This record gives sequence, C-alpha cells and structure tokens, in this order.
Amino acid sequence: MLKELIIALLGIAPLGSLLIFLLFAAFAIYIVYQTQFHPLAAYPGPFLAKLTNLYSVVHAFRADRHEDLYQLHQYYRRIVRIGPQRLSILDAQALAPIYGFQAMCKSLSGTTGSTALRGIEPHILSAIRDWCAALGDQHPDQLSPVAPSKSVGWSRPKNMAHWCAYGIFDILGEVCFGKTFNTSLRDANHLFFPLMALNVQIINICGQMPILRRLGFDDYLRMGTAADREQQIAFSRKQLGARLTGNPTQRRDIIYYLEQARDPQTGEGYNRGELISEATMLLGAGIDTANTALTATFYFLAHHPAILHRLTSAIRTAFPTLEDIVSGPRLTQLTYLYACVEESMRLCPPVPMDLPREVLPGGLQVGSWHFPAGTIVGVPTYSLHHSEEYFDRPFVYDPSRWLLRASEGGEGVDTAVLRRQRKAFIPFSLGPRAFIGRDMAMLEVEVSLARALWLYDMRLAPGTEMLGVGKEGEYKIKDHFVVGKEGPVLQFRAR
Ligand code: HEM
Repeated sequence: MLKELIIALLGIAPLGSLLIFLLFAAFAIYIVYQTQFHPLAAYPGPFLAKLTNLYSVVHAFRADRHEDLYQLHQYYRRIVRIGPQRLSILDAQALAPIYGFQAMCKSLSGTTGSTALRGIEPHILSAIRDWCAALGDQHPDQLSPVAPSKSVGWSRPKNMAHWCAYGIFDILGEVCFGKTFNTSLRDANHLFFPLMALNVQIINICGQMPILRRLGFDDYLRMGTAADREQQIAFSRKQLGARLTGNPTQRRDIIYYLEQARDPQTGEGYNRGELISEATMLLGAGIDTANTALTATFYFLAHHPAILHRLTSAIRTAFPTLEDIVSGPRLTQLTYLYACVEESMRLCPPVPMDLPREVLPGGLQVGSWHFPAGTIVGVPTYSLHHSEEYFDRPFVYDPSRWLLRASEGGEGVDTAVLRRQRKAFIPFSLGPRAFIGRDMAMLEVEVSLARALWLYDMRLAPGTEMLGVGKEGEYKIKDHFVVGKEGPVLQFRAR
C-alpha cells in the first residue's frame, strides 16, 4: 500500500533520484565523519586516504609506497593518516612501543617463527662456491683457492638483481630443503623467480585492504599461474622427499632442526606437510630480502669506485686464501665490510614498508600521543632510514658513518652519533616478530660478497651504467613489501 503510494507520488524516475540522493547523503555523512569526528580525524594526511584504504592499494599497485610515505612525511611531518584506521609514524621513539616486547600491538602478518640456526655454514659455503664460479663464467672445480689465475678478459655481463637471487636461492635450497636448487649453474629452475615475485606483490596489494582477498581479487591477479605453482609445489615436495629419505641426522640444516622441534604441550613434532610449509615459508621470506642486501651492496660499490677499491683491498689483505673467508674473528674484524652492507641496507632496506601493527584494547601511548585500540600503526623503514633527524646527509652512501672513530684510527663518527643512527636503523625490524636469523642472513651476504671481491675485479658493463640508478644516485627500487629491482649489470675478471 505504502509502496504504491510512494510510486504514485513520485513516479519511477523520482524514486531512482531519491535513491541517488540517499546514496550521496550517506557518502557526505561518511566524509564528514571520517574527516571531522573519527578518533583519528585530527591527524593530517591525504584526503582520499582518510576515506579509504584504496589509497594504499593504488600505491601498492604502483610499487611506490616507500617513496609516497617519504613524501607524505616531508609534507605532513611526524604522523600521517594513511588510511581510515591507519597511521604512519616517523619517529624512532615509536619503535619500541609498537614493535618491542612490551608492545600494546599485535602483528598482522601470518607467518610463524623459525628454529635456531646452527651448523649450517658448510651448506651455505657450498652454494656460494658454485655462485662465485658462475660469476666468472667458470666451473666450481676451476676456482683456485690460493692464487687466482689471471683470466684473459671480463666475464659475460651479469644482471646482479638476478644473479644475486640465484646465489641466495641456492643457499636457501641447501639450508631449507637440504639441497642446492642449482640455479647459479643451470637455468632450469629460473621460472620460480617471477612466480615468487608475483606472489609477494599480490600479498602486498591485497594486504592493504583485506576485503580484496575476501572478494577473490588475489585469485584474479594470480590467474594463469596455476600450472607453474603446481610445478613449484611438486618441486618442493621432491626436494624435501629426497632430503628426508637420506640420512637426516648428518646434515645440520633447517630440516634437521625442524625435525628435532617438539610442541612443548603435546610433545609432537612436525609432519611432512608442516615441514614443507615451514621450509617454503623460510624460502619465501629469505629469498628477496637477502638478495636485496647483496644486490644493493654490489650496486653502491660499483657506483663508488673508491669505496670498492678500499673494501676489495681490505678483503684481500685479511684473507690469504679464498677458503679463509668463513665466519669467525677475521670476518668480524673486517668492520668495513659490515659497514658497507649496513649502509646499503640503510639506503635500500630489504623490507622498506611500514610493518603494520594493530593497537590492542587499552590503546597505545607513544610519547604524548595516545592511539585508540584498533588503530593500525607502523613506522616506515625507508623514510626512517632517510630521515635527517637521525642521519647526516641521508641520501649519501657513506659506510664510514657506521665506524666508531675511537676504534678506527680517527675515521668514522663518535659514540653519540652512532647511537643516534642505530636507534633509527631497523632493516630486520625489532621485537618479538623481528627476523631471528639475522646472523645467518648477514653471513650469507658478507661471505658471498667477500668471496666475489677476493676472486674478481669488477666493473659496470659498458653501456649499462644508468640501469638501476634512482633519485640522487640511489638504487632504484620498487616497494612490493620486499624490493623489486633491476641491475646493476656487472662484469667480473679474475684478479
Ligand atoms: C638481509 C636479509 C634479511 C632481512 C633484512 C630480513 C628482514 C626481515 C624483517 C624486517 C622481518 C620482519 C617482518 C615482520 O615484522 O612482519 C623478517 C621476518 C622474517 N624473515 Fe627475514 N630478513 C632477511 C633474510 C631472511 C632469510 C635469509 C630468511 C630465511 C632463511 C628469512 C626468514 C624470515 C622469516 C621466517 C620471518 C618471519 C618471522 C615471523 O613472522 O615471526 N629472512 N625478515
């Protein structure tokens, strides 16, 4: 009766108009609420971001969130509202309250921790030997550990964004699946790289706005890759199967430690499916991060010949033979090597984003700010690493900023400056969810780099000098949660 009355009064077209009017009114109310009355309304930020997480989705698509957050903080300063419920905080003081052990926040990512890493080095070294040989277009048996032979010329050009991935992938194959994937010496398994990169991009895009996953947007983006993914899973199963049917207690790799692990409550160990998923998760988390640290260091060294020269001489002086380059006091004392890698990770953090944490009931106090429960907060790593508040000349590649003047014969910075920098240096994050295998990752990167520089001189391949060069001479990166990159293209020649 009422329906007939309304139709009679307004007619079909006016009813449509009424609906449109109601939609507009609801939208206007939503805008007014988000910008004036929402608990985060007082925080500045882009207008679109206050209304919808699509703002972050767009930047995740463009893979430029790290740069966007940097620009936003330049403009809006310390705190920026980057989503209806989300704040980015550029302040080292916020790190402990957000990520520390007492944090009133919960993590939003879904991975689990891993087991302690020991006794793994021989397997890491085995993969590094193959990789080093391949860099110089040699077979591993050709590498002379004492006196490298003077080769006639430069190797074929190597795009290090890919070649470092091969090296790290093979190391992780040894460490996580008990066998090298052999990508340094053969092309066979290279199809996994684009697949893993796509997977991370999709997780990153949909992670900005979880409803996208519920709507099946991730499946849409993955369309056409099912066959390759099945091949990858089958490969992982085969690799692990071979490892488990061998003599499991002889190899001190991740599988060994995972097999020893027991649930403290039930006393049960991992079954085979769980072992695969743990090992695959480690592989996914480890490949692009360690690869970025290594590739970025090659990039900065190739573009800073004086620093390259100094580091190369230091390595060749410290280690009489190639096989001396292993973990231990001599590697630890090579502070300049560590400084070069740290400085690369400062300018090019392997995880450049604002790792998000949700504020728990009771809220979160950071200095004089109080953030209500349910707010998503994060400190953007790339912006923090480029902040003038913590780093002098933040865009300059200067490894000596990590040396302590008092113990380096006058070079470097004093304790107060080093402390200020360290406060804001977070490539591995911090707190309970931080990456616990930091020492292993640094060992992979340092030993790979040191052995390559011990064996070879290197140069930018002629004609490729500008590949990978970003703003202010930085390494150009894409923020896919981990880092997308191209170049540098290098050539190697036995010294
Ligand atoms: C230079 C190299 C690396 C850097 C800079 C790095 C950085 C990070 C960061 C920032 C996180 C924290 C993510 C979060 O809070 O949500 C993380 C977590 C993790 N990383 Fe790494 N990583 C590196 C190498 C590796 C390697 C080689 C592996 C595997 C063998 C690995 C495995 C993991 C795992 C399993 C987690 C998840 C920990 C958890 O959720 O509890 N990472 N890493």
